[in-house]
Amino acid sequence: MRRKLVVGNWKMHGSIAANKVLLEGIIKGVHDLHEVDAVVCVPYPYLCQAQSLLLDSNVAWGAQNMCSNNDGAITGAVSPAMLVDYGCTHVIIGHSERRNLFHETDDTAAARFNAALAAGLTPIFCMGESLEERESDWTDYIVGRQLDSIIRRFGPLVLEHAVLAYEPLWAVGSDQAATPQQAQDVHDFIRRRISRCNASVASAVQVLYGGSVTPANAAQLFAMPDIDGVLVGRASLKVDDFVGICKAANVQT
Ligand code: PGA
Repeated sequence: MRRKLVVGNWKMHGSIAANKVLLEGIIKGVHDLHEVDAVVCVPYPYLCQAQSLLLDSNVAWGAQNMCSNNDGAITGAVSPAMLVDYGCTHVIIGHSERRNLFHETDDTAAARFNAALAAGLTPIFCMGESLEERESDWTDYIVGRQLDSIIRRFGPLVLEHAVLAYEPLWAVGSDQAATPQQAQDVHDFIRRRISRCNASVASAVQVLYGGSVTPANAAQLFAMPDIDGVLVGRASLKVDDFVGICKAANVQT
């Protein structure tokens, strides 16, 4: 039985004062939810604050990106070891905003995925098609290519220690979430593709959906057999929304 996982992706939002209110509210809101795991992925400067507030709570924390090198003359980069130093358990890898705004590729995402695993972090590996690609019927091709960028290099077993996230670009930040069935279809495709290499990994790996998830659509998404959780952007910045999504996950197990 796969556990449900709700991951907040704060993106470039937050302040010390606002984070304190948000994190304290989340801690309180999810403390008695035992059937769901909650993670917040915060901007680098707030990792220390997340660590001190979330320690001893049932909310874990992580980062939104990292470098694939562990140290070196790489101005502006943050290493996997630094994330571990701050108690991170998860790191988002290959988010579409990183791929599009910072020209990250399948190759560089795969290198970071591998470095995250080597550091003992759980990579949350993002995949998804653009609207144009969906309308051209390329969804399976694009998502398959992104998934293969990991499986071809490292084999299927690495997915035992990773989380996958299907995030259609047209649904991210758009108010137009995929329908539960659209998401389910791609999640099923992902699982079947992994299954060609290793059936037990395919049935064990957590596959999250991301893109305009709210408390209003969360329960229907969680009701789908291959949706094991969600990656949440905007709604992770409001206590009631994030806790509401965690509660919807908690009852759907
Ligand atoms: P959104 O973002 O929930 O604001 O659409 C999701 C994401 O980018 O992970």
